[in-house]
Amino acid sequence: MRDIQHSEVEADLLAIGVFEGDTAPAEVAAAPGAKAAKGAFKQVSPAFPDGAPPALIVGLGKREQLDAERLRVLAAKVAKEAGRLETGSLAWALPETDDTATAAEALVTGTVLGSYRFDRFKADDPDDAPARLESLTLLGPAELGAAAESARVYAEAQNRARDLQSTPANFATPAVLAERAEQIAAGAETVRVEVLGLDEIAAKGMGGLLAVSQGGPVEPRLIVLHYAGGGGGPTLGLVGKGVTFDTGGISLKPGAGMHEMKYDMSGAAAVIEAVAAVAELELTIDLVAVVPSTENMPSGSAIKPGDVITQYNGVTVEVNNTDAEGRLILADALAYAVELGAERLVDLATLTGAVVIALGSTYAAVIANDDELAGEVVEAGERSGELTWRLPLHAEYKELMKGTVADLSNLASQRKAGTITAASFLEEFVDDTPWAHVDIAGTAWDVGREYTGKDASGFGVRLLVELARELSD
Ligand code: BES
Ligand code: MN
Ligand code: ZN
Repeated sequence: MRDIQHSEVEADLLAIGVFEGDTAPAEVAAAPGAKAAKGAFKQVSPAFPDGAPPALIVGLGKREQLDAERLRVLAAKVAKEAGRLETGSLAWALPETDDTATAAEALVTGTVLGSYRFDRFKADDPDDAPARLESLTLLGPAELGAAAESARVYAEAQNRARDLQSTPANFATPAVLAERAEQIAAGAETVRVEVLGLDEIAAKGMGGLLAVSQGGPVEPRLIVLHYAGGGGGPTLGLVGKGVTFDTGGISLKPGAGMHEMKYDMSGAAAVIEAVAAVAELELTIDLVAVVPSTENMPSGSAIKPGDVITQYNGVTVEVNNTDAEGRLILADALAYAVELGAERLVDLATLTGAVVIALGSTYAAVIANDDELAGEVVEAGERSGELTWRLPLHAEYKELMKGTVADLSNLASQRKAGTITAASFLEEFVDDTPWAHVDIAGTAWDVGREYTGKDASGFGVRLLVELARELSD
């Protein structure tokens, strides 16, 4: 344990980790409360030393098991405890690990994500509102400042994505997502925005986005963000599903749990805020992000099962289930991103219920037409803690997506491999561009880790920022 002059720490609360089998540092070890600390992972014991701010002795568990994920979990636990203690400022003594930069990033990430709550619609009663953590100080070598600062940037971006996700559909409309993109462009010289409205979407022949939007009065948007970070490498295209509410349309979803479909724009939220974070971090990469956004509503003007539409790239699709709407809007967006110069493509979408069955909330599925890009996504997942697991493509899955009267059907002819058949459909719209599809239906909310909470997780922001970091030079 590094030597900490506890009495000199200028914070309301000090968090000090203890490994299993070790004892707390002398300054706090003698304090009332400290005796209980045994170092067991996630055991947090408050201690109240004389003449110094209160401390939390944090069980780090076994030394050889301490990794970034455990540190994010612990940091979030401490952040919540700090909230309960009405603490405005927190200092964390960086535990000893082999990779101190990673440890610093993990502590900052866990603290920022763990302090998050969505209270925009709660009555503004100052007596009721718990205190917010205002500052975090890492006690460790000064050269960790850059790592800590970049973690702050992407974790705050992730919290903004959670705000967008949690905002209900009567507020978070496609126009509101477009406004957020415009705000990002207004705040950074390296970012440019382009927003297409209903007429332009129709004029361009984006038949998927148009078809999904035609059931309701809320107008769709096709949002494009360009980030010019330079560096000379290939342009990375990002696409995010932005269905601000998915009722299923005429193929109506059951009522139970339907409110969760406000989260069907989680891919869009992650992509938009990842671009903001990449710009703030000034990563040396060029990005083009495309977000198709609409509601999916049933009505007399809605698309019907069996209707045939023409996608942006000219491919015709039989809409055999109006609840398989995500692939229709992503098809247009992927084709558009290729046209705009994307040389590698990653899309994020809450695309299938099947992925929740397959991988739960632990891994997102990644499905790719390119081994190298797939590997980079999986690696970025491991580094960021936003895990992805690859599923295969195969001609036999593609066979299931053939249409009877059109080129393709949006519904597989058999109820098999729902996550893969959806991706097989998308593959028809990327030409030969290396592409990875990430199905985040299981990871975008209801994850239940200490630092994600039970609601919106903002999944994908850290994954995309890490990928952009990997691909930048
Ligand atoms: N947005 C849903 C997918 C979804 C379901 C996300 C549950 C999160 C939780 C998507 O638009 C959808 O409805 N997919 C259908 C496709 C099916 C009709 C082929 C599904 O997965 O049931
Ligand atoms: Mn749907
Ligand atoms: Zn959907």
